[in-house]
Amino acid sequence: MRKKNLLISLFSLMMVIVLSACTSNDGEASVEDTNNGKDSNEQMNMNEDNENSMEENMNNSSSEGEMNNASMGNGHMDHDDVVSLIDSTGENELNIPPVLKSDSNKGTEYTIRAQKGETEIFDGVQTKTYGYNDSFLGPMLQFEKGDTVKINLINELNENTTFHWHGLEVPGNDDGGPHNVLEPGEESTIEFEVTQEAATLWFHPHPEGKTSEQVYNGLAGLIYIEDQNSKNLELPSEYGENDIPLIFQDRVFDDEKQLNYKAAANEDGTVGDTSLINGTLNPKLTVDKEKVRLRLLNGSNARNYTVKLNTEDAFVQIATDGGFLNEPVSMQEITLTPSERAEIVIDFSQVKTNEEIALVNEEGTTLLPFEITDQTGKTIDIPDEMNDFSVTEEEKNLPVTKEIELFGMMDQVTINGKKFDSERIDFTQEQGVTEVWEIYNKPDMMGGMIHPFHIHGAQFKILSRNGEAPPENERGWKDSFSVAPDETVKIAIQFKNKGIYMFHCHILEHEDNGMMGQVKVE
Ligand code: C2O
Ligand code: CU
Ligand code: CU
Repeated sequence: MRKKNLLISLFSLMMVIVLSACTSNDGEASVEDTNNGKDSNEQMNMNEDNENSMEENMNNSSSEGEMNNASMGNGHMDHDDVVSLIDSTGENELNIPPVLKSDSNKGTEYTIRAQKGETEIFDGVQTKTYGYNDSFLGPMLQFEKGDTVKINLINELNENTTFHWHGLEVPGNDDGGPHNVLEPGEESTIEFEVTQEAATLWFHPHPEGKTSEQVYNGLAGLIYIEDQNSKNLELPSEYGENDIPLIFQDRVFDDEKQLNYKAAANEDGTVGDTSLINGTLNPKLTVDKEKVRLRLLNGSNARNYTVKLNTEDAFVQIATDGGFLNEPVSMQEITLTPSERAEIVIDFSQVKTNEEIALVNEEGTTLLPFEITDQTGKTIDIPDEMNDFSVTEEEKNLPVTKEIELFGMMDQVTINGKKFDSERIDFTQEQGVTEVWEIYNKPDMMGGMIHPFHIHGAQFKILSRNGEAPPENERGWKDSFSVAPDETVKIAIQFKNKGIYMFHCHILEHEDNGMMGQVKVE
């Protein structure tokens, strides 16, 4: 509480300073002081709409004298203070998304319907939800590298949607960005070849301005890609037994136990107090005494998850967003910002049947308790060498050819000072040519917040964070990464296919508020 009061007074003080700077030039010096020496004109140099509504916001808050608690609670000002999650009681066995079967016996042709439904998330209550081929969430699609996959897409919703394949290297036309709209009742078919290595990807809708609400209501599914390497590694791979997906999401349920997006929505990212994993409330996972592979996906609209064991025991991370790490990396906790994935392996072979062991978050909230059976499972060794990922000298020395500046908060978020315009191409890049992009998160008066940055259509390499080599567990293929306030991240990216691809903040409300741009690959 003391911290909150301090922040409130600090915030009000800054508002006064900034307001006086807006109306007179005398305030400029003091603004500079509070802005780490950044030029105050630059700070205020947003396009006119932004400036006006920024001022409006400022006037509102300073005339009230203090911010109300609701907006402090999960808003931008005090992001450490995001509403806490409720502990899982562990009363429900974790739901495992079904593997999507191919249509008839044609092998690699699938049908995916976006549909509405009702789901019993709480005992005896039907919650209105969205799902793919199901009332809530979606199936797991299993592809093999080299497959030519055909997918029939059907929109059974009463609103426009798109089907986006997050992390998949497909031509722009198949990518399901905001240009690939399916109207209610409309169908289309896409066909593409799976050319990338084994990885855990996901799919979700991407209609302009409506992504956050549709994902919130339940539209999200998994994609597993397998290849020769993933088979040779002999990792735990019995789906639902010792190879388990965990889709972390947080929600707010109203008094009727409904998902009321409009009521819950926050411009700076909608967070909730209720933790769902694979759509299961109060989940637990029953495992044998063996090594278990968990494929973690932060599928939330905005919440960052730091996941660890309550025992503080280490585990290994074996994969990033887009493939295996070269070697397993021992970790005590892992942070995933929205849309990031990681595969980890936890060794339960020595855990006692009655031991209380659980995945918890950074606050110690129980996310997923484990129930250990007295079965001894397979003995599996995680190989020391899993992949041949590398950053070449050439890549390290390439000049920066694309600069991205993330800035703003609430509905005032921008990339390079601009909001998304579906008619505007922000960058072009040549197919098959590696370029270095530099992404900078420019702080604001309140310090700023983490923006999870994502680019469609490619897996890329993180070259550096603030000039330093990335942590060991980011030395693998990535399609999303966190950018902290004032942090600069350099990546080397090559697109295998042509088309128009989005890049954006994966706080879905920021994306919907225009924190998105387009790169045309030709
Ligand atoms: Cu997860 Cu634009 O996507
Ligand atoms: Cu994507
Ligand atoms: Cu953002």
